[in-house]
Amino acid sequence: MKMQALLSAVWGVGLLLVLCGARMGSARHNSHAPRTLYAFGDSFVDTGNLQRSPELGATTRQWYFPYGVSNDQATTDEEKATGRFSDYLVQSDFIAKMMGLPLSPPPWQNTHGQTCGPTGMNFAFSTSGVFGISFWITLREQVDFFKTMIKSRIISKNHVTHSVALLASSGNDYKQFRFITNTWQVTDLAWNITTEIATNVERLQNLGVKKILVNNLHLLGCTPSFCRKHNYKACDEWANEAASKHNYFLEHKLGNKKGVLIVDLSSAFDHIIGHGNQDLAQGKQFKHIRKPCCESADHKGYCGQQDKNSNPLYSLCEDPRQYFFWDDAHPTHAGWEAVMAQLQNPIKEFLGVA
Ligand SMILES: *[C@@H]1O[C@H](CO)[C@@H](O)[C@H](O)[C@H]1NC(C)=O
Repeated sequence: MKMQALLSAVWGVGLLLVLCGARMGSARHNSHAPRTLYAFGDSFVDTGNLQRSPELGATTRQWYFPYGVSNDQATTDEEKATGRFSDYLVQSDFIAKMMGLPLSPPPWQNTHGQTCGPTGMNFAFSTSGVFGISFWITLREQVDFFKTMIKSRIISKNHVTHSVALLASSGNDYKQFRFITNTWQVTDLAWNITTEIATNVERLQNLGVKKILVNNLHLLGCTPSFCRKHNYKACDEWANEAASKHNYFLEHKLGNKKGVLIVDLSSAFDHIIGHGNQDLAQGKQFKHIRKPCCESADHKGYCGQQDKNSNPLYSLCEDPRQYFFWDDAHPTHAGWEAVMAQLQNPIKEFLGVA
């Protein structure tokens, strides 16, 4: 009896030591965990850099109903729509949450880069591509904004050193070049785009950023804008081929680079919207994997579009949680939740917040 008590006491102390060790270990870890996020790229991470405009249009729709419709933090339609291309949050918000921040840091547009808080800044512009066409703010220009703010000491070196950068390049460039059908031209384009991404990763590293998350490209051909013509039953093979080349080159150029983690959106999306794999738990969650919750009547139209008399030119689903896609290109809040849940472990480990 006595022996047993002694043993259990020893075991208890041992357990306590193990627990304390784990505790101390994680505390030590967390004090070095980054608390500042700088986001670059396009609508997958943009939280309102395209200016709110009094006029509803394809590139201002994110400020109008039904954008943000699942945002329970706000009451009016106007407050709910926060400039995000989603029914509530987007990828940068989920990354911020992993870092212990409430949401993505504020958009650059709020202060035009005149100030920057300790949580960082979001430089991403929704219509952005790697290569600029007309009004686009390119990835390179976004990094230029960041560089200017460092040079003028609005952003301190110390913040940069302890920060994370997130780069989203979600296929706008490929949409622009949809007329390219030659295989070698697609290869050429994917090479050029990934080179530009890698160049800007290097520029960020030269500016002192130690941890960089780079999205690879999801199955572009299985997104609503590409597979609407197949009634959402099949994917567009050209676009998926472009995405697969993109990912191959990206892996080749950045896969082994120190301080860089490729965020495998491709696999995470594939598990849900890909060709098979409907058996996976993530896939089962959604009744509709390719048909968007908010769908324009005309395939050239957009979610939220209205006619002259303010009648909707789109249909809106009842429950966005049953849809992976919100509009013709962007996941719902629930969609992002399902994607980021799959990617959480490698990202947290890389950031040291596991
Ligand atoms: C890729 O870049 C090269 C060199 O700048 C250029 O000549 C070529 O036209 C580009 N290809 C595509 C498809 O954009």
